[in-house]
Amino acid sequence: MTIRDVIAAIESSVKTHVAAIDGNCLGGGVELALVCDYRVATPAAKLGLPEILIGLLPGAGGTQRLPRLIGARAALEFMLKGTPVPAKRALELGILDEVAEGDVVVAARELAARPKRRASAREAIVAKDVPMQAAPYVVAQAHKMVPPESNGGLAAHKLIDAVQASVELPFNFGLAREARLFDELVRSEPSQALRHLFFAERELSRIPGLPEARALPIERAGVVGAGTMGSGIAIAFAQAGIPVVVVDSSDAAVDTARQTVMGMFMYRVQQGKLTQEEAWKRAQLIEFTDDWSRLADADVIVEAVFESLDVKREVFAKLDAIAKPGAILATNTSTLDIDEIAKATKRPASVVGLHFFVPANIMPLLEIVRGDKTSPEVLATAFTLAKTLRKKGVLSGNAFGFIGNRMIFDYLREANAIAEEGVPPARVDAVMKRFGFPMGPFAMSDLSGLDIGRQVQAASGAQAFGRTNVLGRLVEMGRLGQKTGAGYFRYDKAVGKGREPIPDPEVDALFAQAAREAGIAPREISDDEIRERLLRALVQRGERLLEEGVALRPGDIDIVYVYGYGFPPHLGGPMWNARKEPAHA
Ligand SMILES: NC(=O)c1ccc[n+]([C@@H]2O[C@H](COP(=O)([O-])OP(=O)(O)OC[C@H]3O[C@@H](n4cnc5c(N)ncnc54)[C@H](O)[C@@H]3O)[C@@H](O)[C@H]2O)c1
Repeated sequence: MTIRDVIAAIESSVKTHVAAIDGNCLGGGVELALVCDYRVATPAAKLGLPEILIGLLPGAGGTQRLPRLIGARAALEFMLKGTPVPAKRALELGILDEVAEGDVVVAARELAARPKRRASAREAIVAKDVPMQAAPYVVAQAHKMVPPESNGGLAAHKLIDAVQASVELPFNFGLAREARLFDELVRSEPSQALRHLFFAERELSRIPGLPEARALPIERAGVVGAGTMGSGIAIAFAQAGIPVVVVDSSDAAVDTARQTVMGMFMYRVQQGKLTQEEAWKRAQLIEFTDDWSRLADADVIVEAVFESLDVKREVFAKLDAIAKPGAILATNTSTLDIDEIAKATKRPASVVGLHFFVPANIMPLLEIVRGDKTSPEVLATAFTLAKTLRKKGVLSGNAFGFIGNRMIFDYLREANAIAEEGVPPARVDAVMKRFGFPMGPFAMSDLSGLDIGRQVQAASGAQAFGRTNVLGRLVEMGRLGQKTGAGYFRYDKAVGKGREPIPDPEVDALFAQAAREAGIAPREISDDEIRERLLRALVQRGERLLEEGVALRPGDIDIVYVYGYGFPPHLGGPMWNARKEPAHA
């Protein structure tokens, strides 16, 4: 018996059915509730039809019953977003009849005494928020507002088709249409890829060979360094309701960080995401100070000072003297050896890497870097902390660049090699944007700063990204990327607020000249070759990281790339994508 059978049985029953809802009521749960005559929920309940998030649509009548209940426009919005809403909102939308402050079952019994009410399913459509004649317009608009079918929007378009059926067809025909569209989606590649990511995410904290360990409580946090990363990390703690003390040696850095924090919370208020009062409360959770002793009662301290082993070792020695026993000492280093940092303390078992991505309060990825001596409790706590901060924690071995950056170095090297063979950076970027990345490799380099790129290149022991070191030449020319108005591209304040990459013939000429000097002959390169070479660079390094045990599972790498680097989710991540369509053929 499937949920469709249960729903059909309720629908044909002569009794009044009431759904009493508590906790998370998602997907089939909501579809079951929709067939009932009345719905009542506790104030803490949440309702959602999240199928779209895994590339599906509600397949047990939801696409036909919801528009009949709350109107086509509201139903579309609810199902296209897929995020659950609190009971109060569900009541406003008309999904619920009541929110019960007292016992929800008692409230449901009272509703059950009322007469049957089956109009939503059986009668001809009454499109509540859209007059019938405007329904086709709403449907057409919706198609325009979602991504194209070929680029992440397949399920959205099918969902809109299903809602269109609810508007145009008798109920039973609509149900049949929904079932057919659902089956198409189940078999579709985007949905398979999204389900792969869904399950990969659930695997993340399963660490083979790690003894069961209890997470330590995290009630207070500390951050050292109030720069770009430190302030973002502090905001992430505050958003999770964890008080955080931020220590920096520079008054100027603290002033800037204070402004960043206030600016960010004000922005959330403007967006309507927080009330003024909530924003104020959260901002108050962040304390800036130059007094290190204030870190003494923190359960976790994240270091985010300059990327220098000497500076970090000094900071860790200081933390070792101040932090309470059992406190977790974490570093946000991008490239340095965690074990070398841990050696500066007498408690290497408490040291772990917590590699946040910029902006740390927004990016959903956290690489958790395990040192030689990191204890199981500390790792378990790091995973719990990731969840508390609403991030996807991925375990990485302590190897240069960890998972994400190690792979991106190879990708950038290949992008430079392709440019040396005569393809302008703008074309390389355009190909990868068409593939689905939000930006291409060169714009990405310009965004993070070419000086940083060169430092990383030097730290990795590589002579150049590519064979000719155009990156180094650009840095010498003072072209450090977006921040200096020029890097691989030019930037103009008047064009896209100085963030829009403008192709620069000077850089094309620089690549051509460097290639001539190195004896690299220009040649015709197809878009397919550009894409495949770049994807292959990612995948080959990914395979090496798996062999070396730096990454645990291909799915972990996929999560890193989708949530940290903008790899298109409907393609499932680089490793998943290569499995289906070998980029390295
Ligand atoms: N920016 C990124 O994209 C990014 C991403 C991930 C990780 N990281 C890593 O995060 C760390 C910080 O990077 P950032 O971009 O925030 O740097 P930043 O230069 O913006 O900030 C560093 C801050 O540390 C402070 N500081 C330096 N030495 C100190 C000391 N001894 N005691 C107290 N404060 C000190 C500085 O005053 C400064 O405010 C680095 O290890 C970096 O590799 C950076």
